[in-house]
Amino acid sequence: MPLTRRELIEKALGAAAASALGTLPALGAQGGRVPYGSALYLPDLTADVRVGRAIIEHCNRVSPVSELKWNTLRPSDGVFDFASGDAIADFARTNKLAMHGHTLIWYADMPDWVRAYDGHQGGERLMAEHIETVAAHYAGTIASWDVVNEPIPDAAPDETTLRDGFWLNRMGKSYVGTAFRLAHVAAPQALLVLNEYDIEFAVDRSPAKRAAFRRLVLDLLDEGAPIGAIGLQGHLRGGWPIAKDELAAFVAEMRDLGLKVLVTELDVQDQDLPGPEAERDNLIATQVYDFLEAVTDSGPLESLTTWGISDQYSWVRWAYPRTDGTHNRPLPLDWDFEPKPFKVVIDHFLKKTT
Ligand code: G3I
Repeated sequence: MPLTRRELIEKALGAAAASALGTLPALGAQGGRVPYGSALYLPDLTADVRVGRAIIEHCNRVSPVSELKWNTLRPSDGVFDFASGDAIADFARTNKLAMHGHTLIWYADMPDWVRAYDGHQGGERLMAEHIETVAAHYAGTIASWDVVNEPIPDAAPDETTLRDGFWLNRMGKSYVGTAFRLAHVAAPQALLVLNEYDIEFAVDRSPAKRAAFRRLVLDLLDEGAPIGAIGLQGHLRGGWPIAKDELAAFVAEMRDLGLKVLVTELDVQDQDLPGPEAERDNLIATQVYDFLEAVTDSGPLESLTTWGISDQYSWVRWAYPRTDGTHNRPLPLDWDFEPKPFKVVIDHFLKKTT
């Protein structure tokens, strides 16, 4: 019998903590499991044996945090250093985990030597060389790629403005479609993903960002770009309400357009949430529930990935540290690799396969 949100949180936290939650509809038919992945940073895998063990125990999918970004992969012009990416690929292969490619084209984490490229031709040549070489190197290993990561500005002034950066400056707006076309030629079997964050909230700049992301997807489909999926990163900002109806409608529209939907980088920034662990975990689990309920309203996810697995190895620790001396709790497993209510909630939604 499927559990309601309240029953689920109650099971994980105890009745007292769950009493503030309303009753929500139970999930529908269950069976099978949506693939679950974790991001993995190679130095963490090497430093702490529990990182690899937890991923092997809980996941069937992995996304490299930094190992396929330009700063790591491209030490100088014409040179490719696959050592770190290959180490993650070996870990994935040995443990029968699928590997998601993060990321081919991004405005950030770019090496200094790239700045020397001038003009459209230079940018396009560089992009083609990169995508052809990297996708070919991981053909047979990487089945899905974040082709373009974070193309929408945080404060989208209108629906058509793309985020400033190297690729936009060198190639104009066509850089996004060009990247997808190149990736499709280089990796014809791979699922090609457009990945973005802050699509899910009811507040701040999120509604405008959602509208701009939607416009970009529609434009890419109009021009025949071989986009296969959208990736909702899901870096949830603790306390920010999820725009449940709008998000559910947006995801349903994407599915109607023939696109798959992945959650690619789920975690919760909890620096402003209350200190007591049970109370904080309750808020985190509830926000994750609201997000996943909306994105699975019209169908199952292609996959769900959290941006790490244990609180001890989350980027949130250094990017959004708490000031009360307690550990951040952004991920499914706590500092000691014990499951938290976050884990109970994602397990619940991983069962939703129809
Ligand atoms: O590895 C060095 C370490 O040797 C050094 O001591 C330390 C000192 O600052 O830096 C370490 O490298 C950092 C690395 O993360 C590992 O922690 C880099 O400076 C830092 O820039 C890098 O940040 C990563 C960031 O992307 C930029 O690439 C984060 O870990 C990673 O979590 C973050 O991931 C992004 C996704 O790619 C896209 N979506 C948002 C997400 C979160 O920001």
